[in-house]
Amino acid sequence: MIKFKINEKEVEARPGWTVLETARQYGIEIPTLCFHEAVTPSGACRLCMVELREGKWSKLVASCIYPAAEGINIYTETERVQNVRRWIFEMLLSECPASDEIRLMAKKHGVINTRFAVQNPDENCILCGLCTRVCEEVVGLSAIATLDRGVHKKVGAPFLRPTEVCVACGCCVTICPTKAMQSRIDSVRSRSFMPLSKENTYRREATI
Ligand code: SF4
Ligand code: SF4
Ligand code: FES
Repeated sequence: MIKFKINEKEVEARPGWTVLETARQYGIEIPTLCFHEAVTPSGACRLCMVELREGKWSKLVASCIYPAAEGINIYTETERVQNVRRWIFEMLLSECPASDEIRLMAKKHGVINTRFAVQNPDENCILCGLCTRVCEEVVGLSAIATLDRGVHKKVGAPFLRPTEVCVACGCCVTICPTKAMQSRIDSVRSRSFMPLSKENTYRREATI
């Protein structure tokens, strides 16, 4: 086992665990958005940042991709961590102002406004990539991908046209942290598939 400290408390991790996985084993809360146990972590949203201290030296690391290592000292609630979290929430509020989930989460961390300009008031996708990763890694299909670049970046099927590759399993809808995929799925799945039933949604939630 790997021994290290989180918030001055001794913790133990199995080889291969990340700091986030270890923290969760000990009930230590770290907010996340682009992380889900079912898929490979990507470190996309940076919301899970924690402080790694070594004497007078310290740095912020994304806990969902930072490996647990012998003797490291991790802090999850320092002023530096809280500042970066607030900054990320402000960014998210400006990029995805239509997401109730982001608004609620931001409020829980004391952020209700953003100093950054709102690009699109209807946007609710945070481009976390959970939908594309679950389609590729769990469903094994890659029916959707991240398209375009920069401010035009979005998730969808190639050429934004419904695709027969999508089997309408709904995993992408279930895993989406902002419900953004719910309104996009009709532009992905082909008409040859029946609409997603409530019963199937419950079955999927149990799987993911
Ligand atoms: S649709 Fe949802 S899961 Fe997919 S990138 Fe956007 S927020 Fe993430
Ligand atoms: S509903 Fe379609 S796009 Fe979504 S995970 Fe399933 S196969 Fe992939
Ligand atoms: S949850 Fe770690 S970077 Fe998004």
